[in-house]
Amino acid sequence: MDQSIIISKNIKAELANAISECEHDKLFVLTDVTTREKCWPILQDHQSLKDAQPITIEATDTHKNLASLSQVWQSLQAGGATRHSCLVNIGGGMVTDLGGFAASTFKRGINFINIPTTLLAMVDASVGGKTGINFGGLKNEIGVFNDARFVIIDTNFLQSLDALNLRSGYAEMLKHGLISNEEHWGELLRFDLSTPNLDRLKNMVAESVQVKEHIVKGDPTEQGLRKALNLGHTFGHAFESFSLKGALPSSNSGNSTPALLHGYAVAFGLICELYLSAVKLGFPADKMQQTVRFICDYYGTYNITCNDYPELISLMMHDKKNTAGIINFTLLGDIGDIRINQTATEEEMKEALDFFREA
Ligand SMILES: NC(=O)c1ccc[n+]([C@@H]2O[C@H](COP(=O)([O-])OP(=O)(O)OC[C@H]3O[C@@H](n4cnc5c(N)ncnc54)[C@H](O)[C@@H]3O)[C@@H](O)[C@H]2O)c1
Ligand SMILES: [Zn+2]
Repeated sequence: MDQSIIISKNIKAELANAISECEHDKLFVLTDVTTREKCWPILQDHQSLKDAQPITIEATDTHKNLASLSQVWQSLQAGGATRHSCLVNIGGGMVTDLGGFAASTFKRGINFINIPTTLLAMVDASVGGKTGINFGGLKNEIGVFNDARFVIIDTNFLQSLDALNLRSGYAEMLKHGLISNEEHWGELLRFDLSTPNLDRLKNMVAESVQVKEHIVKGDPTEQGLRKALNLGHTFGHAFESFSLKGALPSSNSGNSTPALLHGYAVAFGLICELYLSAVKLGFPADKMQQTVRFICDYYGTYNITCNDYPELISLMMHDKKNTAGIINFTLLGDIGDIRINQTATEEEMKEALDFFREA
C-alpha cells in the first residue's frame, strides 16, 4: 500500500483531509499517557477529531507488549469498531509501532494514520511500514509490514520533547546523512543540538524522511538495499543490549550504567562502524573524525573496558541481522557509498572498540 508522508504546514487541515480520505464509520485516537498529556491538547479541539474515541496506553518501549496490544484491541471492540473504522496514532515509535500493529490485525486490518511526536518516530519509526510489539523478551518479535495511510509530521510537537529523546532521534538523522549525500551530512554536522532551532530542524527532518522513504521504496521487505538503514546498528544493538543488562536491578555485573536510549547506542555504533569503514573500505579519515567529534560533543561517551569486549562481540554474533553465524555489517566507502553485507574479523571489531574508547 502507498503511504502519504506529509511534512505539516497546517496540521488541522492536513489531518482533516487525511481523516476524510480514510473513509470510516468510527474514529479512534491512540496515545500513551505522556502524549495524552503533552500532545493531545494541541489536537483535541480539531473538528475532525471531535467524535474520536480515545485509547490511552502506558508509555515507553517496556509497554510495547501484548498487554497494551490487548488493551487496544479491547478498546476498539468495546467502542464498536468495524473493518471500516480508522485509528490515529499520536506518539513516539512505541505508539506508532503498537498502534500500527493493532490496526493491521484488528478485523484483518483497518486504516491507520500516524502522527509521530518524537524525532525518532518522525524520521524513522512512523515511516516504512514496520509495525509490531516486543515478545518473549525479544524486541519487535511479533509484527507485520503494513503502511499507515498517512504520516503527518509536525515538528512543533518537539517543543515538549526532552533533550535526551531529541538527541536520540537525531542519531538516526545522522545515519541518514551518512548514507545519502555530503550536503545533507554537512548540514547535520553544522546544527547546534544544544539549542536546537526547530524551524531549521524542520527542513532537515523533511530531507531525512526522504532518505528513509527512498530506501524503503526500493526494498520494502528488507531483501537488500534496506540494509543501508542498519549502519551503526550492529555495534549499536550490542551497546543497547549490553546497557540494558547493566541497568537491570538484578544484574550482578556491578555495572550500574543506566540503559542507553536507542539513538545513543546507534551514535556510538556509528563511531565503531565508521572506523571499520575507514580501515576496510577507505572511508575518508577527515569525514570520520568530523562525525566522531560531533557525536562525542553531543552524546558524550559510554564507559566500557576491554573486559567487556567478549560480551559485546557475543551480542553481535546473536544479532538477528546475521546469517550462518557471520556478523553482518553495513559499512560505507564514502558518504552515500553504501556497502551492505560486510564482515569483520574479531580482531577488527576489537580495534573498533579500542577506537571508540579513545574517541
Ligand atoms: N517501525 C520502525 O521502523 C522503527 C524504527 C525505529 C524504532 N522503532 C521503535 O520505536 C520505539 C522507540 O520510539 P521513540 O524513541 O519515539 O520512543 P517512545 O515512543 O517510547 O517515546 C519516548 C518517550 O517520549 C514521550 N513522548 C513522545 N512524544 C513526546 C512529546 N512530543 N513531548 C514529550 N514527550 C513525548 C513518550 O511518551 C515516551 O515516554 C521502539 O519501540 C522502537 O523499537 C521502530
Ligand atoms: Zn535505529
